Amino acid sequence: MQKKVHIKSYGCQMNAYDSVRMAEAMAPDGYAETADIEAADLIVLNTCHIREKAAEKIYSELGRLRLIRDRRRTEGLSTTIAVAGCVAQAEGAEIIARAPLVDLVVGPQSYHRLPELVRRVRDGGGKAVETDFPAEDKFAALPARQKRQGPAAFLTIQEGCDKFCTFCVVPYTRGAEFSRPVAAVMAEAEKLAGYGVRELTVLGQNVNAYTGEGPSGEVWGLARLLAALAEIPGIERLRYTTSHPADMNDDLIAAHRDIPALMPYLHLPFQAGSDRILAAMNRKHTGAHYLRLVERIRGARPDLALSTDIIVGFPGESGEDFAATMAIVEEVGFASAYSFKYSPRPGTPAATMPGQVPEAEKAERLAILQARLNEQQAAFNAAQVGRVLPVLFERPGRKPGQIAGRSPYLQAVHVEAEGIRIGEIFPVHITHAGPNSLSGVIITGTNSGMKRFIADGSGTDAVAPQTAELLS
Ligand code: 5AD
Ligand code: SF4
Repeated sequence: MQKKVHIKSYGCQMNAYDSVRMAEAMAPDGYAETADIEAADLIVLNTCHIREKAAEKIYSELGRLRLIRDRRRTEGLSTTIAVAGCVAQAEGAEIIARAPLVDLVVGPQSYHRLPELVRRVRDGGGKAVETDFPAEDKFAALPARQKRQGPAAFLTIQEGCDKFCTFCVVPYTRGAEFSRPVAAVMAEAEKLAGYGVRELTVLGQNVNAYTGEGPSGEVWGLARLLAALAEIPGIERLRYTTSHPADMNDDLIAAHRDIPALMPYLHLPFQAGSDRILAAMNRKHTGAHYLRLVERIRGARPDLALSTDIIVGFPGESGEDFAATMAIVEEVGFASAYSFKYSPRPGTPAATMPGQVPEAEKAERLAILQARLNEQQAAFNAAQVGRVLPVLFERPGRKPGQIAGRSPYLQAVHVEAEGIRIGEIFPVHITHAGPNSLSGVIITGTNSGMKRFIADGSGTDAVAPQTAELLS
């Protein structure tokens, strides 16, 4: 009998990738993925521990799962409940103590063992907790990638973190930095390209610290890997995330100039603007260093859209320190950004630092910051109106007859388009910008229509670099 698995992913894109691979790992055991949680024989919560709120969400979700499990029980159906991801790693067996309905707990380094653990639980073997950092290579133990919907895919190439920012749990939940060998990354990327993937986002907690073993034993950095990935037939767009400023080396900056497939979008967290706070965060960069870096990357790729992560209310942050954060925001101008109130995490150095900032002050700073970031994002979106951008269409839109995709700058773009196939890249004349997305009109007749559009003057200097390439 076919069984069903429902995986709910929280947190970062690395968790989203792991969720896909867990679903694939369960397939040989006869589990098909379902979006309907009530129909699932196996429910996996792939959790995030980065802030207190993220971790607490899991316990309220488990309360809801109890109702689902009990309802299924009255119909004679059994439900296995698994907690995976970073809360699993950080809390281990405590999760089962606090929420006894949980059958198994599996950390991010051990999820290749999920099928075996599920079998053990379902065969009456009791609860299972697997949070070791096993020596075996999880990726080598997982089944090969399967055909997935969608032309844009994630590929984890690096895991873990050795940076030890004082606010962050990642070095503890994900362990030390580890880079997958080049051959394994290339094989997975080629497989995905064969399934119709056009855009690859390579992932790592510290992706630009990638140092993978090359085919002849030499070490490859991220720039060299991106150049190789760009050569794979079918792969037309590349992105990478998340990066640390200290690992943005010259080769990687040059890659933004030299690799046309590398999209003009970079997520580069700076966290705070004050050098005193940056030092207390153990960030290994100053505000000036970050600004200089941005200048250099923009020198390589002038139309680069920047995104970032910012924390307000880190212990000891004064009004003046916060003003330094706002000054960086002003200076850079971000296309998008994620900003957070500092959340003390047990076991991290900052949690016990003096000068914890009152909640109300954090909230006030966050509101000021987000208001400005929203303005910047809206301005960046508005600046695309009138331009022609190549859009990779990824999915049906919200309304019938609509499809949605992404611009090179990662903006969602909606168009009315009967008969355009998902998975293709088309030039779109952007006619409208909202706070979170763009809409426009596909320039049909492909090259000739596009050239006419440019010839009539309306788009001449407004064409994004990648579109020019699309025309050549
Ligand atoms: N409190 C608030 N935000 C945090 N982040 C990481 N740890 C914390 C914390 N303890 C933010 C950082 C990081 C992003 C993924 O989450 O900005 O870049
Ligand atoms: Fe959350 Fe960090 Fe774990 Fe991603 S790696 S799920 S952001 S705690």
